[in-house]
Amino acid sequence: MFESARLQIVAGWIRHYGRRRVLDIGCGQGQLLLTLDPLVVDDYVGVDASRVATESARRRPDIPARFLVADIQSEDLPADLRTDCLCFVDVAYYLPLPAEVFARTLRHLASDGILIVCQWIHPDADAPHNHKAAAVFTAMEATGNGLLDDVALQSAMTGNTWRLKVIRPRAVPACS
Ligand SMILES: C[S@@+](CC[C@H](N)C(=O)[O-])C[C@H]1O[C@@H](n2cnc3c(N)ncnc32)[C@H](O)[C@@H]1O
Repeated sequence: MFESARLQIVAGWIRHYGRRRVLDIGCGQGQLLLTLDPLVVDDYVGVDASRVATESARRRPDIPARFLVADIQSEDLPADLRTDCLCFVDVAYYLPLPAEVFARTLRHLASDGILIVCQWIHPDADAPHNHKAAAVFTAMEATGNGLLDDVALQSAMTGNTWRLKVIRPRAVPACS
């Protein structure tokens, strides 16, 4: 799988922290699902604004999965949706108001759950993209009391760089 190392890091954190229920925001075609360990994860929900992406997502026989079509910036998820691992893999920098989205989606996260954010980093340190990515990480870090891990990843083949962070957010009241 092309440049799958970022997904392997995400899946590794999910395994390490023993998180069973994964909510993958901006899931695209569900590439993360294909990377997860079925001995750990027994529930996957992918959410994407693109119906075409979710409809072409590949399933796997060993992890129950479903896909929802929603614009996470403007639409709420089903109130009864619960997760213990909230993932934003290469999507949060597209969101006009990421802090607002974190606040709303954290209402679906268990009190001992984790939040993972992965972002591609532009090679030009001063690129507008990187300012947006930095603002996303600031909003992410404001949800918790310190990071659990923070990784910089670079493909020696393509030069592409990603930054990945994981945090245990402070508990917020669940959706009712
Ligand atoms: C770069 S792709 C990443 C896909 C996948 N997470 C991965 O890393 O392979 C970004 C995805 O985010 C989705 N997306 C962008 N804005 C969104 C929004 N407001 N709500 C839901 N999905 C969104 C896009 O449709 C696209 O599938």
